[in-house]
Amino acid sequence: MRAMVYRGPYKVRTEEKDIPRIEHPNDAIVKVTRAAICGSDLHLYHGMMPDTRIGHTFGHEFIGIVHEVGSSVQNLRVGDRVMVPFNVYCGSCYFCARGLYSNCHNVNPNATAVGGIYGYSHTTGGYDGGQAEFVRVPFADVGPQVIPDWMDEEDALMCTDALSTGYFGAQLGDITPGDTVVVLGAGPVGLFAAKSSWLMGAGRVIVIDHLEYRLEKARTFAHAETRNFLEHDDIVVEMKKTTDYLGADVVIDAVGAEADGNLIQHITSAKFKLQGGSPVALNWAIDGVRKGGTISVMGAYGPLFSAVKFGDALNKGLTLRMNQAPVKRQWPRLFEHIRNGYLTPSDIITHRIPLEHIAEGYHIFSSKLDDCIKPVIIPSES
Ligand SMILES: NC(=O)c1ccc[n+]([C@@H]2O[C@H](COP(=O)([O-])OP(=O)(O)OC[C@H]3O[C@@H](n4cnc5c(N)ncnc54)[C@H](O)[C@@H]3O)[C@@H](O)[C@H]2O)c1
Ligand SMILES: [Zn+2]
Ligand SMILES: [Zn+2]
Repeated sequence: MRAMVYRGPYKVRTEEKDIPRIEHPNDAIVKVTRAAICGSDLHLYHGMMPDTRIGHTFGHEFIGIVHEVGSSVQNLRVGDRVMVPFNVYCGSCYFCARGLYSNCHNVNPNATAVGGIYGYSHTTGGYDGGQAEFVRVPFADVGPQVIPDWMDEEDALMCTDALSTGYFGAQLGDITPGDTVVVLGAGPVGLFAAKSSWLMGAGRVIVIDHLEYRLEKARTFAHAETRNFLEHDDIVVEMKKTTDYLGADVVIDAVGAEADGNLIQHITSAKFKLQGGSPVALNWAIDGVRKGGTISVMGAYGPLFSAVKFGDALNKGLTLRMNQAPVKRQWPRLFEHIRNGYLTPSDIITHRIPLEHIAEGYHIFSSKLDDCIKPVIIPSES
């Protein structure tokens, strides 16, 4: 089969690989019909994620058709159209029993802090991902779900991560009616977090980024106010000014460790790897939220982190909430919003790229060329 393969930082290509086989009776093999590239994949692509091995296939956002099932699989049949959450999880451990699917204790032999994620390096279990013609799906009775008849395929694809994560980001913000919510980052996760904030009763939603075309999307798609941080000497001062000098009630970090906005932090983290990443977005959140407010962190950070204004967070009495999204937990509500027309998540897709041109897809998305917001990969046309 053809599959995306990692060859080192900034080097990916399409190669021939063996079709994955059933390794456990509860595995399924899924023929991928659509996959997406996520902002999280860029951390791998940039070489920021430990234990990303040469030959690994990325891709944790995918949908497809069940091609083969193991002998114990009961919930899926060959031919079913399925959507697969980005988390690999067992469904029965202490954490899964509490709905903490992203914190499953049984799926990652390499770490206990993080669970399993498709196509996301050996740090998260070493599972090959779905930017390929076929993918092995463990715990096939647990994660995947048949795509409802009425749902558009690409809407289903957005549910496998970006939409569910954005919605989860708004949920963790504990938004109360009338709250002012600031969303840092106007990528797919930030756009969906902004849109979801209204559903939770926000009174104002302000999205901050430096890419004008994405801020335009935040205005039209998420009906948010926007600020371009390059147009302000100090974006934190602007966040204060626009909230009666109190600060926002809730700040959602949809940026993560590769934040722009501070050259020194960028050089010491991305270039020289002297620290685990740039804390710029997190520190803007800590400074820009009001005392007693809540910060919801969806942006990805490496295990070790420095230069975070932790003392300020303490002295301001902040609540910090964060996790990898437990995707499937969000689906029942999201399905309702999609069905009633409030959410059309596929609206954020800007590029559809054949698997053969995956290198170009990564380049365009990473360099934010051609007004790219969300690229979708098409493995084959059947
Ligand atoms: N927690 C989870 O379960 C989960 C799931 C998916 C993605 N993520 C993470 O969420 C983050 C966003 O994902 P995405 O797909 O939207 O990525 P993306 O790269 O498309 O978007 C990030 C956006 O942040 C902007 N940005 C950079 N520095 C900024 C700053 N200082 N302030 C404000 N905006 C800034 C960028 O211009 C870009 O538009 C990534 O870190 C990703 O790894 C987490
Ligand atoms: Zn993702
Ligand atoms: Zn589990």
